[in-house]
Amino acid sequence: MNNYKRTTITAALPYANGPVHIGHLAGVYIPADIYARYLRLKGEDVIFICGSDEHGVPVTVRARKEGITPQDVVDRYHNIIKKSFEGFGISFDIYSRTTSKQHAKTASDFFRKLYENGKFIEQESEQYYDEVAGQFLSDRYIMGECPRCHAQGAYGDQCEHCGSTLSPDELINPVSKLSGAQPVKRRTKHWYLPLDQHESWLRHWILDEHTEWKTNVYGQCKSWLDTGLQPRAVTRDLDWGIPVPVEGADGKVLYVWFDAPIGYISNTQELCAAYPDRFGSWEQWWQSPDTRLVHFIGKDNIVFHCIVFPAMLKAEGSYILPDNVPANEFLNLEGNKISTSKNWAVWLNEYLEDFPGQQDVLRYTLTANAPETKDNDFTWRDFQARNNNELVAVLGNFVNRALVLTHKYFGGRVPTAGALTEQDQAVLDEMAQTRRNVEQYLDVFRFRDAQKEAMNLARLGNKYLADTEPWKLAKTDLERTATILNLSLQISANLAIVFQPFLPFSAKKLQDMLQLQTCNWNDLGRADLLSEGHRIGQAELLFSKIDDQPIEQQIKRLEDIKKANEMEAYQPEPIKAATDIEQFDKVDIRVGTVLECQKVPKADKLLQFKLDDGMGGRTILSGIAKSYPEPEKLVGMQVIFIANFPPRKLRGIESEGMILSAVNADGQLVLVQPSKPVKPGSQVG
Ligand code: MF3
Ligand code: ZN
Repeated sequence: MNNYKRTTITAALPYANGPVHIGHLAGVYIPADIYARYLRLKGEDVIFICGSDEHGVPVTVRARKEGITPQDVVDRYHNIIKKSFEGFGISFDIYSRTTSKQHAKTASDFFRKLYENGKFIEQESEQYYDEVAGQFLSDRYIMGECPRCHAQGAYGDQCEHCGSTLSPDELINPVSKLSGAQPVKRRTKHWYLPLDQHESWLRHWILDEHTEWKTNVYGQCKSWLDTGLQPRAVTRDLDWGIPVPVEGADGKVLYVWFDAPIGYISNTQELCAAYPDRFGSWEQWWQSPDTRLVHFIGKDNIVFHCIVFPAMLKAEGSYILPDNVPANEFLNLEGNKISTSKNWAVWLNEYLEDFPGQQDVLRYTLTANAPETKDNDFTWRDFQARNNNELVAVLGNFVNRALVLTHKYFGGRVPTAGALTEQDQAVLDEMAQTRRNVEQYLDVFRFRDAQKEAMNLARLGNKYLADTEPWKLAKTDLERTATILNLSLQISANLAIVFQPFLPFSAKKLQDMLQLQTCNWNDLGRADLLSEGHRIGQAELLFSKIDDQPIEQQIKRLEDIKKANEMEAYQPEPIKAATDIEQFDKVDIRVGTVLECQKVPKADKLLQFKLDDGMGGRTILSGIAKSYPEPEKLVGMQVIFIANFPPRKLRGIESEGMILSAVNADGQLVLVQPSKPVKPGSQVG
């Protein structure tokens, strides 16, 4: 690694149009937090920058839907998101927002400088305009028939049915998603960042000089570069955003992807202005060649952070470029893609309410399953197992035994270690490797392996206790017991240090339990962190078992959401071939009242109805037993039946007709009823 003096760490600014979920945490914020904490613990100069991304079309759409202002929308979610991050101990030095004054100024100045130095191209084009909503439409807000597969509901940029990439011009019968109106073409002027002109230095900078970037990141950049870069519009016709600060740009704002990354800079400026003594000048974090810039993001942000933003920074001229962009892939939830609009997510604010005090359990699970090299899956069962089998059974159990035994046999004071056996020495030798083992992975952003190495130290301790059984030895050999517990407490102290970046709440708790005064990363591996006679605190449980009930409740919640989504997505069956009134007239449809209803023995789908049909009664069998588990409750209800089908025998019972029911989206059959009581035998038609 090159010689650098400080590190600027950024985490992607989340959109303030919904709360944040486990996918965000796993992909971006936990890894960034682990890294920031790690560097701080090593005594390096670090700032860790984030904030809400508050512009963009989706905010305006939500505002319109709810009848509130865009500012109301972002105020609401900014606060929820900020609290969630605090709740999980994400140690940002600042969490600001792109609607701040500072940001408007910084982003405008940035644009103006590029504009004045001729770094943009200016171009007029025809764009779709919604005359009812009175605004231009971004690609996502134009829908129509897909020109490839002819599915309805394709977006202006993509057809989700066949996966084709589209442009709005290709859509057949386009309509505006905003008003439903047919959009018209209007001429409009925009400013473009000519990425094509940046291609050659970008190629060299990424493909030759950053071969160390993660393969998923490097690969995506290479594929973009190989396809050839196009100029990108950096302005939009919209009334929500930062006004384009040049003449002749009324009604235009900076494109959200132009202003948002500049937010990293604005937020640094805000931080340094508030705490100049602690953080110094903002320029040193962004413009000094001995500063290392690292962007933590998800994979959908790669092109913006590796190509577009660097091109902006380069065009501006006074900034450093990112040294690394450790982007992650996506986390799925119970086998399905996380989706804000489909509510298919575990929301962080809800987790904090449902599992109070258990932030570290989620941090641990998400890091253990981090989607570092490929998409990964979060399941509640795995979450439970990681807690019960690893945090409780390994880490918590080891530390607890070390502390409890120390209280029991040595009055809560660190006992004196005597002569070391070969086994003791082997354990200490292994512990001495911990720092190197963990760092080798943290330094290259492999957080799951790093956490695994930290956990291995707890495993080592657990095995040491299981092998030496000091609880038995204490009765015969107190001296040997003292040595074993001394070593176990030293291992515990090392655990308190090594877990700080990963499990900050539990590491702190452990530090307090051990009454460990300092917790320096550089002390990792030492076997003399707790001196002889040092008094330790009370042993408390670091983690507690999670039983089935809360897990099943979470799974149930997701099942309910899935059902609700299926209902929502339900498309009625296509209409059958044409028929006519004569055909219909042949069918005799009547109303009947249920006199008796019961399950047909050994037929799990059939119910046997006895109906009052106004003509002496009849029996009808109906295959709706699954939808009506308590058939006796149907007695007295009126139903509609077909009266002139020839009788047929099912399971030895003669059925005289057919009772009508509707098929619901979830496959449930729902009996059809007249809306007012009718005399049995009345005709329907
Ligand atoms: N809001 C974007 C997203 O959630 C990320 C913006 S990152 C920044 O995908 F660089 F633009 F700030
Ligand atoms: Zn299609």
